[in-house]
Amino acid sequence: MTTAVSPSLDSQQGADLAGSVAGTELENGFLPAGPGLERYHSDWYGSATVVAPVLRPRDTEGVRAAINLCRTRGARIVTQGGMTGLVRACMPQPGEVVLSTERLLGIEIEPRQGTALIGAGVTLASLDAAAREHGLMFPVDMGSRGSATLGGMISTNAGGNRVLRYGMTRANVLGLEAVLADGTVLSNLSPLMKNNTGYDLKQLLVGAEGTLGVITRAMVQLVPVPNARRVSLVSAQTLDEVQELLTAARQGLGPMLSGFEVMWRDYVECALSLPSASAIPGFSFGEFAVLLEVTGTSDEACEEALASTLGNHLEAHPEADAIIAQSEAQADALWTLRDLSGEAATVFAPFAGFDVSLPLSEMEGWVGDVRAKLAKAGFERTQFYGHLGDGNLHVVVGLGDLRRKDEAETILYEALAGRRGSVSAEHGIGLSKRQWLPMSRTPEELAVMRRLKAAFDPDGILNNNRLFNKE
Ligand code: LAC
Ligand code: ZN
Repeated sequence: MTTAVSPSLDSQQGADLAGSVAGTELENGFLPAGPGLERYHSDWYGSATVVAPVLRPRDTEGVRAAINLCRTRGARIVTQGGMTGLVRACMPQPGEVVLSTERLLGIEIEPRQGTALIGAGVTLASLDAAAREHGLMFPVDMGSRGSATLGGMISTNAGGNRVLRYGMTRANVLGLEAVLADGTVLSNLSPLMKNNTGYDLKQLLVGAEGTLGVITRAMVQLVPVPNARRVSLVSAQTLDEVQELLTAARQGLGPMLSGFEVMWRDYVECALSLPSASAIPGFSFGEFAVLLEVTGTSDEACEEALASTLGNHLEAHPEADAIIAQSEAQADALWTLRDLSGEAATVFAPFAGFDVSLPLSEMEGWVGDVRAKLAKAGFERTQFYGHLGDGNLHVVVGLGDLRRKDEAETILYEALAGRRGSVSAEHGIGLSKRQWLPMSRTPEELAVMRRLKAAFDPDGILNNNRLFNKE
């Protein structure tokens, strides 16, 4: 880990900023650059190389004031949520001020409509807890739920564990409010599911990684908490067998299938070695472990559908093992194995993390190719896992030496070429993957993206140089 070494703003700019917030609403949440700001300067991968002052506005008007202030003072803004992103997009850079959304709170639930109006700084766990009081939940779920904020999830179009049932974050945003680089407040907090009235501007901001505006509030969709769920762990020896199970689960479970996660042996071994993992007694892990979740209207319905799907699969693959959690606690323990991915990665630090998308038919070839090339290059520590139901694989590669990051990236991304894959399925591009973006987008697409950026933020004030390489 490196430590913050120099202020992001020069002393004149820093003093100007402090002077400008004095006596305004922004003063209350202002933290001048200095010691004690580690949480705004570190992520899964380590620390920033600069220390930036932090603005923490309380409301949309405060965000507008912060943006106007930075623009007129020649400072740039990096917007932060819960700092759980995996592509370093929130790491402050020279010339930047941190705009933290942590004080943009508030949750208003309309149970009959099945919607929540939330502030960007609300965490996924707190939205979910509030929704559950009404028998509802936010459809997107992921391991970082305790810290990840809705503003960050919307900005990155987060995916997570239930995409195959409910879609990504994008599918669950009904309305948005955001402040643009020129201080314009773009607000449409509509709860409507259908609204075909011109360009869908909110969808431009979803997944834009904070480059087009700062999201301040959102109207999101909630769904009923299913009456029942069953979680099961199934072993397999080949990826082909895992995909066969996926096909059977889609066919046999239909919309009851709410999770289909795959973990290769190397991931399982690493996750089970963590102090926070619980052992799974009586289960014999194979080369693969599949976590399969079923939700439905009753215990009986879930039990029956799962037993029938697994029964058929086990008949065809008698050597496979399968357990069905017998209590909610056991179900949570099975999910914990999968949710520990963040911690499991840090065991290999310094590491490179990947989140590729591939057609299912290309997956086996890609994994085989990548494993062989990594081994040949001497990268011995790997973890393969992912959201197989979404065609999304994660790989963690222990680098040994951070200077080998490019080499590992080249191996994984070059193997995508010709396989119709994407360099990011859900984590986004941020600072880490900019050089690889052209692999997944045509020059024409990139040109239109840059034109959009220029139209929304001509001076490059917001999350500058994220997503795109420097011109
Ligand atoms: C996960 C994160 C890495 O799926 O996206 O665990
Ligand atoms: Zn993931």
